Amino acid sequence: MLKNDLLLRAARGEETERTPVWLMRQAGRILPQYRALRGRLSGFKELVETPELAAEVTIQPVDALDVDAAIIFSDILVVPEAMGLTYEMVEAKGPLFPETIKTAADVARMRIADPEEHLGYVLEALRVTKRALNGRVPLIGFAGAPWTILAYMVEGHGSKTFSKARRLLYQNPELAHELLRKITATTIAYLQAQVTAGANLIQVFDSWAGILPPAHYAEFSQRYIAEICAALPNVPVTVFAKGAFWAMEDFAALPCRTIGLDWNQDPRTVRPLVADKTLQGNLDPCALFGTPAQVQAATKAMLDRFGPQRHIANLGHGVYPDTDPDNVKVFIETVKEYSTRMRG
Ligand code: CP3
Repeated sequence: MLKNDLLLRAARGEETERTPVWLMRQAGRILPQYRALRGRLSGFKELVETPELAAEVTIQPVDALDVDAAIIFSDILVVPEAMGLTYEMVEAKGPLFPETIKTAADVARMRIADPEEHLGYVLEALRVTKRALNGRVPLIGFAGAPWTILAYMVEGHGSKTFSKARRLLYQNPELAHELLRKITATTIAYLQAQVTAGANLIQVFDSWAGILPPAHYAEFSQRYIAEICAALPNVPVTVFAKGAFWAMEDFAALPCRTIGLDWNQDPRTVRPLVADKTLQGNLDPCALFGTPAQVQAATKAMLDRFGPQRHIANLGHGVYPDTDPDNVKVFIETVKEYSTRMRG
């Protein structure tokens, strides 16, 4: 039994007495207690792959910030690794795949991963976290959308354009689909196992949605996201497709409950397009670099745009690591107070 189920009620479209709030990337470098723990370890992967430590870091923002949800501390790149492509997390630079996907033989070598065998450490982290949370708040599980995972597997690292990955969609669409099918199968089994391990809600991150033309988005991303949502009928699913403003009308048909919005979108425009869905978002992460009074004003203006119900307050993307945690607290407190008052 959950003591605070605001997030799940809002996701299911039920009325809530205030708007639930959490932050993408809330577990991480904004918190001094995260940096202290991380500094004692060999690196990011040790933290991700040690269930007790991952659980500790998952719960830090619940204690320090009083958010309405915990999100399991992991990364979307554990999925390509489970399929056979090892990643490195390069200090101050980000992810790097020493080997990338180039040929049909490379795709053939990728396995459809077994969740317990290849991602057991994430499932164990969920179980440990679930026990330690003791029902305080819901636990969010997640995975990357197949297109975003393909983008890293082909490109090998972050990129502004992901032009190697996008080139593949033109030069060898069949090979792209072959890889996307394998990623989708792995992701479905993995997310179902996350739910069994205790995840109360699933978020699918399509971080690189916005670099595709709309027709490619429909063909290479959205249909696979639809398959994932359909495979998770018993849990609310949030789809966050960053930059995919043109896809909102099509998202109405997705078998998911919540659509995440980045900060470029106006929820007043999106609401009528997605009918009864809940919306999540979407304060500009940079707004947290203002004064506390500016953070308050920006947060209230955001809440007014979404309206009181069917909203999960969040940023429009992950919180930036150099954000002052005190301003994050102002954001969270403002959501709680102002959204209560909005209900009169
Ligand atoms: O939200 C949370 O608090 C849970 C943790 C979480 C991480 N990564 C931890 C992390 C989540 C949900 C992710 C998802 C993720 N990872 C995404 C999708 C969300 C998004 O941002 O669009 C993507 C694209 C990745 C890939 C990734 N991982 C990148 C590009 C980077 C480098 C950039 C950075 O922030 O350093 C990472 C590393 C990473 N993942 C860190 C954390 C806390 C930083 C590693 C460190 O501690 O130094």
